[in-house]
Amino acid sequence: MTLTGYADRWSVKQGAEIGFMVSSAGGRDFTVRFVRHLCADPNPAGPGYAEVAMPSPLDGLHSGAERAAHLGSFGHAAALPADLQGGVTLSATIWPTTPDKGVQGLVALRIGGWTFALGIGPDGGAMAEVAAPAKPSARAQVPRRLLHRRWYDVSATLARDGSLTVTQTPHAPLGDAGAATAQAGPPPAGLAEVLLAALPPEPTSHYNGKLECPAIRSAAGATIAAWDFSIGIPTQTATDTGPHAAHAHLVNLPTRAMTGSNWTGIVHDWKTDPTQYGAIHFHDDDQGPLGWPESVRLTVPTDWPSGFYAAHIKNDAGEDYIPFIVRPALPQSDIVLLVPTFSYQVYGCYVRPGRGAEIAGRAAAWGALPQTPDMNPQFGLSCYNHHSDGSGVSLVTQLRPMLDTRPRQFSLMDPAEGGSGTARWVADNYIDMWLSSIGAAHDVITDHDLHAEGVDALAPYRVVIAGQHPEYHSDRMMQAFEDFLGRGGRLMYLGGNGFYWRAAPSADQPDTLEVRRAEGGIRVWETMPGESYHAFGGGYGGLWRRIGRSSHKLVGISFSVQGRHLGFPYRFIEGINDSRVAFMTTGLDLRAGQPFGDKGYMGGGAAGFELDSVNPKYGTPPHALVVAKGVVIHPDYGWVNEDMLVHRHPLPQADWSCADMTFFETAAGGAVFSVGSMTYAGSLMVDGGNSLIGKLTANVVRRFADPAPFTLPG
Ligand SMILES: [Fe+2]
Repeated sequence: MTLTGYADRWSVKQGAEIGFMVSSAGGRDFTVRFVRHLCADPNPAGPGYAEVAMPSPLDGLHSGAERAAHLGSFGHAAALPADLQGGVTLSATIWPTTPDKGVQGLVALRIGGWTFALGIGPDGGAMAEVAAPAKPSARAQVPRRLLHRRWYDVSATLARDGSLTVTQTPHAPLGDAGAATAQAGPPPAGLAEVLLAALPPEPTSHYNGKLECPAIRSAAGATIAAWDFSIGIPTQTATDTGPHAAHAHLVNLPTRAMTGSNWTGIVHDWKTDPTQYGAIHFHDDDQGPLGWPESVRLTVPTDWPSGFYAAHIKNDAGEDYIPFIVRPALPQSDIVLLVPTFSYQVYGCYVRPGRGAEIAGRAAAWGALPQTPDMNPQFGLSCYNHHSDGSGVSLVTQLRPMLDTRPRQFSLMDPAEGGSGTARWVADNYIDMWLSSIGAAHDVITDHDLHAEGVDALAPYRVVIAGQHPEYHSDRMMQAFEDFLGRGGRLMYLGGNGFYWRAAPSADQPDTLEVRRAEGGIRVWETMPGESYHAFGGGYGGLWRRIGRSSHKLVGISFSVQGRHLGFPYRFIEGINDSRVAFMTTGLDLRAGQPFGDKGYMGGGAAGFELDSVNPKYGTPPHALVVAKGVVIHPDYGWVNEDMLVHRHPLPQADWSCADMTFFETAAGGAVFSVGSMTYAGSLMVDGGNSLIGKLTANVVRRFADPAPFTLPG
């Protein structure tokens, strides 16, 4: 990327400040301007890309600087005030995942230009290495390879006379024990800097695997430092229980709450016995907050309308749009669009090999942003990726460029004629555009606001609109929705596969989300045994359905079928004639069996990609009324694996392979309307919003915004 950046937050109130961190290759200067997106979709066959320039005092040229993005997690402790000259031993218990990947650091000391490291050698055995200025480095390496995903005790000793010894001791020997010696110079005097899971001086040769109880001892066996990773599991601090309290700072988000070498299999919640969770899993492709210096700081003018915005940065070498939401300083409408930024963050930097090359031609033809995460691996991975060692990515920071979460962008080659292939930012912007097109004044806020403020973020509004794919929520957010409905609020869910996974932000690292893909659900990786509880917050990870808070209860429907990015029509069923939903059909001529939503800018139809249906077994309210079904029976569509108990689905196919358009009233005078499809948002603006699906949905918005209470049937 020649020019890119990130914002310090997802949303900002009118009158408040937001910072932008920019990296410009070669330090080229760049221009900044701000735009509001009326339509963020670059598809020339779509509603029509439309950005409005929003002048600010920052408009114009800014000086550029190139910033680095380093991958690989490690621990760092500065200035250990210990005398090493009598001899020193470095030790750790390890569970390496890529012992054959070349040199990797485990525990390393640096005093000036001198370094002493315990690591994995180039041939895959434990290694002790001493490097000193102007001298050839000395290395001892066990001539037996470490086996991957097995526990070992490893140690490196540098004696007063400079003799160097390394040992590797398997917990369950398979002929893989060994030791080696070499001759080096003696340890120098001075304050030692410590690196864990990497080699000095700049952290390099990152380790893949679990590291437990790294320690430094004197020749007499006295503890100089001993880090206990079972302490402070939710934090980015590794506690040194030794005499110098040389606590290590964890950089680039290694994974904590990992089972240790002493894990018995009896305890599954780390909070029950943290001592069985004394391991940290480091990865050579972990990415944390980049920490770039701020390039531009905007005070949002108070007259900028709430909506979808971006900082447009540009120079001769490239351009980028850094997206953000403007919230009103005070609520200004009865309706609020809740932008699913938790889901954006969990998906952000989704590396799909070959995607950049695949979309390049269309991006050029459409004037769309061409950059993709697979072409920019320096910005890390998403929770939809595996690490290089095959383990799942469970931690994601928002403080890095998410090149796949941008306006003026599409994310896949839409298989439908005229389709946009949009997702996330652009797909939710369709809903914003459509609300404006029907004259429904609305505010825009984000998931991150909802997590920060709880139900207070929703309380000023009569109608909350959840977006195209609001898949990830925290406990606090789920509670906020329930509380909002409990107060008579009205919730419209205009997407699919929503309210599906638990996600947890860190208390001391609120830019970072954790997702543990436990037990069930369509998922690209799964947690390993004993590792299904989040380090952040300590909650049990996985599907809200498994945790007892299924979206069936909240919105009547839940994820039940997944397939290609192809959309199909809905058809009204008898429920549409029920007097309870007479408001939906005002001014429309409808009948049961009639298709609608058979066009769209996402997959060519309103019911597609990921669909949600009712299921009373998991909590669909008994009075929920299905008014239309988008049944999709197609060879590329199948049921979700939480329903895959045997080779046959427990229900008839038409009962689950569908998007159920569902309505129900609440006891508090509110109501819920759910559509259960990820391509629905792409159909709202068909024919300028004057299609049947647009008009029907507009009728729902108008009734939901009307203060007259809904009453339970019967
Ligand atoms: Fe999803």
